[in-house]
Amino acid sequence: MHEDIQEILYTEEQIKTKVKELGCRLSEDYKDLNPLCICVLKGAAPFMTDLVRSMDIPLEMDFMAVSSYGASTKSSGVVRIIKDLDASVEGRHVIIVEDIIDSGLTLSHLIDLLRHRNAASIKVVTLLDKPGRRTVDLKPDYCGFTIPDAFVVGYGLDYAEKYRNLPYIGILKEQVYQQQ
Ligand code: PRP
Ligand code: MN
Ligand code: MG
Repeated sequence: MHEDIQEILYTEEQIKTKVKELGCRLSEDYKDLNPLCICVLKGAAPFMTDLVRSMDIPLEMDFMAVSSYGASTKSSGVVRIIKDLDASVEGRHVIIVEDIIDSGLTLSHLIDLLRHRNAASIKVVTLLDKPGRRTVDLKPDYCGFTIPDAFVVGYGLDYAEKYRNLPYIGILKEQVYQQQ
């Protein structure tokens, strides 16, 4: 285990099992819809790539980069679009793929945007949900794990751009983000 991690919340195996389960459900629900899976970079990248490989239906992938956190553990409330989609979402059945929903600001902003661009439907799949921190009314349509209010990293989730490559999800030691 990485020395900055206090405790492993979900192991690589547990994540794998959960991602497969979500992929199966999405495959059934989107069988004939050729969904457009939108990965919210950067955090959702590992989840997205594993998820689509557990979906055995025709689908397309696109990527969007937004950021609200920077090098802080708290959302700034300002959602910046850093990279926009390549494809048009008009008339498409969109699945937004997120690693975590915290305040809900990132997603509510994205959903508004995609609605405005006339997507046929918009649903959200998130690996982690932290409902205790929500500041806007938003519930994921598909969720892997509901977690308590701890600062988690790994499997895409970062603190100041670090730890995204950990294969598990762990709680970051408080001293790591209290140092500065
Ligand atoms: C994190 C996370 C979600 C968002 C959730 O992304 O990956 O996208 O914050 O927080 P919210 O519900 O309070 O909006 P971040 O902005 O850190 O960018 P990153 O994915 O590149 O790490
Ligand atoms: Mn993110
Ligand atoms: Mg981040």
